[in-house]
Amino acid sequence: MVTFAELERVRRRSDVARKSLAGPETPLIMNAWYVAAMGEAVGRSLFSRTLLGRSVVMYRTASGEVVALQNRCGHRSFPLSHGTLDGDTVVCRYHGLRYGANGDCLALSDGSEPRGKMGVHRFVTAERGPLIWIWMGDPKLASATPLPHPEWLGHPDWDFSIGYAEAKGNYVHLHENLLDLSHLTYLHAKSFGTPEYARAPVEMDIKPDDIQVWRNVQCVLPELYAKPLGWVGKRAMRRSGSQLVSPGLHVNTGIFENLELDKQPEPQPMVKVAQLITPETQHTTHYHYALCRNFARGDEAIGKQMLAGMSNAFSEDLYALEQQTLMQTASVEADDFYEFDIPTDRAGLEMRRRFKQWADAERVPGAAKEN
Ligand code: FES
Ligand SMILES: [Fe+2]
Repeated sequence: MVTFAELERVRRRSDVARKSLAGPETPLIMNAWYVAAMGEAVGRSLFSRTLLGRSVVMYRTASGEVVALQNRCGHRSFPLSHGTLDGDTVVCRYHGLRYGANGDCLALSDGSEPRGKMGVHRFVTAERGPLIWIWMGDPKLASATPLPHPEWLGHPDWDFSIGYAEAKGNYVHLHENLLDLSHLTYLHAKSFGTPEYARAPVEMDIKPDDIQVWRNVQCVLPELYAKPLGWVGKRAMRRSGSQLVSPGLHVNTGIFENLELDKQPEPQPMVKVAQLITPETQHTTHYHYALCRNFARGDEAIGKQMLAGMSNAFSEDLYALEQQTLMQTASVEADDFYEFDIPTDRAGLEMRRRFKQWADAERVPGAAKEN
């Protein structure tokens, strides 16, 4: 029986530790690349989305270049996305101010040029493969920070399909979920978590610039992978890894070996999932996931089936995230409540420590840090 005094000691230790960890209330990390949208979502009309707590309007110029502007007219805060696109110029629907692609105000309501410089902010963007990335922090740091776009996403040796969901929770918890392989057997019992998973040891590789978690499991593969591989009912070695790349990206890898075959297929079958995580607000997250595979190439039906299976599994994560968020925000607990950690949380705790340091570093004047 745990005494109240013991509980209180643990709670105090936990409170101190929690202060050094990022959580739902930690300011968002601005100096990082995040996915703004899929390239195909942005065209010759105004498209708006809230990213990192700021409303952004996006479109393409006549030459196809992506433009991302602050979606808030500098005159009286009307959303520019409710206006019109005239050539490459955005016209505010309220009083007709016109903004060029660089965000500068070009004309007032009567068509005259503004006196002095007026405008809205233009965010730095980069389009790679099927994705549009955005940098919403200090623009001077953008060019010095490599885009984390994985080289296999959009590479001709890989097929990909992309899904999207709006997650009702803070992005730190989503990262935490992705570094925690211990939930697969339980939360994903009906999708891709085989019972052997819980018993397999977790290998954590925590370096100053990299966090990875791996698990090797001999099992009958879940249908999601077994069907497209043609390995239904066969014993296989499944290596699963999760890597934190940046505040906007996680990479999951699955490597499969058929233990009933003498000769393995070439190349070794793999899936890679780019988990593209972009805070929308402090408590909601845009979640794109790009599922890439190097087998069953060119088979669209298999691509669709796998994406549907993966979306179903991720909806289980989103369910957990939403429930966790509701519990955190809606309940008033007695003072003796504290969250405790288990050994498989180590990678997630390390991620939260780093995110907290990066978020804090951005708040020290003149000490912005790129991630
Ligand atoms: S609010 Fe946009 S022109 Fe006045
Ligand atoms: Fe999960």
